[in-house]
Amino acid sequence: MRVLCIGAGYVGGPTMAVIAAKCPDVDVVVADIDAGRVRAWQAGEPPIYEPGLREVVRTALGRNLSFTTDVAGSIETADVIFVSVNTPTKTFGEGAGRASDLQYWEATARTILAHAKTDKIVVEKSTLPVRTAEAMARILHSKPNGVSFDVLSNPEFLAEGSAIRDLEHPDRVLIGGEVSERGRRAMDLLAGIYARWVPEDRILRTNVWSSELSKLAANAMLAQRVSSINALSELCEATEADVAEVARAVGMDRRIGPEFLRASVGFGGSCFKKDILNLVYLCEHFGLQAVADYWLGVVRINEHQQQRFARNIVAAMFNTVVGKRIAVLGFAFKADTGDTRESPANFVCRRLVEERARVVVTDPQALDNARRDLADLGDAVAFEPDPMRAVEGAHAFAVLTEWAPYRALDYRAIYRRMEHPAFCFDGRNLLDHRALFEIGFNVYPVGKVPLSHL
Ligand SMILES: NC(=O)c1ccc[n+]([C@@H]2O[C@H](COP(=O)([O-])OP(=O)(O)OC[C@H]3O[C@@H](n4cnc5c(N)ncnc54)[C@H](O)[C@@H]3O)[C@@H](O)[C@H]2O)c1
Repeated sequence: MRVLCIGAGYVGGPTMAVIAAKCPDVDVVVADIDAGRVRAWQAGEPPIYEPGLREVVRTALGRNLSFTTDVAGSIETADVIFVSVNTPTKTFGEGAGRASDLQYWEATARTILAHAKTDKIVVEKSTLPVRTAEAMARILHSKPNGVSFDVLSNPEFLAEGSAIRDLEHPDRVLIGGEVSERGRRAMDLLAGIYARWVPEDRILRTNVWSSELSKLAANAMLAQRVSSINALSELCEATEADVAEVARAVGMDRRIGPEFLRASVGFGGSCFKKDILNLVYLCEHFGLQAVADYWLGVVRINEHQQQRFARNIVAAMFNTVVGKRIAVLGFAFKADTGDTRESPANFVCRRLVEERARVVVTDPQALDNARRDLADLGDAVAFEPDPMRAVEGAHAFAVLTEWAPYRALDYRAIYRRMEHPAFCFDGRNLLDHRALFEIGFNVYPVGKVPLSHL
């Protein structure tokens, strides 16, 4: 069997590497228009940071895994074509700021149609609005050339930072297909690939629309939990309750569970906000305003949390940060990735620069992306790979990514290197606040009473 994936990004690359590693007899080709990315994959040096990814890629590279920029030329020999191109939020025209921008998606459908000479199974891997598979099928069948296409939805649930573990041990694999004999056969063929390593009872088959909606719903509900605990964190700060204690007590209820109940500066990443806005757009399209408003609230609380965090920094530092050096520890949207899309750190840095602070960003994996993201701010932001140098002469440091190595830094030495009074704003509740306070820091966690010497 020959499998092609169009799109070699955070999803396409790792997913295909795992399929190739698990199925040595399946020939896997990953095609992308971004020549730089393709070159990096081909060299066995993934263009994205993901624990364990490089090893998996190298297991299969040159055996049954290859990368190419020849999208059109790879289509003909493939039996199954995964489409994993980006589907960002639209920034123009109807639905701007809400709907998915489907231009890359449609361009891919047309390329497949133009170059396919034999029947294909086309698999939506990208996250798409409900009923996109239907539109895809319409485009693919718009030119009667004797080729027939089955379109399946197979959304990806991996989380960046744990992508390889998630792909090797998925909670479930979801396959949506047409309810017909033909649709069932296509679903069985795709399920057969996953069944090489995923237990059969974790492979779910649904209709196409349930599958498309399930992906949006899963992300919306995960984000909703983050916004719920973050909303409570503000109430904790006002009432002297401790959000970690509340989260623990709430999470021990089996009906609720402990995951995704960590208060923080807010969620980021390329998916949560985009997918919720997509859901909101769909609800509005169907005239379901109350449902749209409910989900929009999740995004609004997240924005509020980021604003609140930045505002608290300025308020705590005597209502001015003009000319003060502030070290930002972590720019990735979460630990164990270099991805900075929609990272709260981006927002916070911009707010601090607006307040005329001198910002120094450090991050173990995301510094190149940070430089690109903040390029328009010019000299107002500096970038420093070594956290110990980033804090040199700083009035404050803010933890914006929960990188484990930040727990192990020598905070006594950091305190000595900083200006005094020294402030710590822990946007991830990562550090030992009592210990920092005892060293001399004024400590501002999320959802807990600050520990201040002032
Ligand atoms: N990143 C995640 O954690 C995650 C998780 C689950 C689902 N998803 C979804 O998966 C999809 C892809 O996300 P991503 O994070 O991998 O995006 P990405 O931007 O990292 O990768 C997309 C790739 O597609 C390529 N591309 C775009 N148009 C193309 C074309 N016409 N032909 C060939 N290649 C083309 C781009 O060059 C890019 O390399 C999105 O729909 C996203 O919502 C992402």
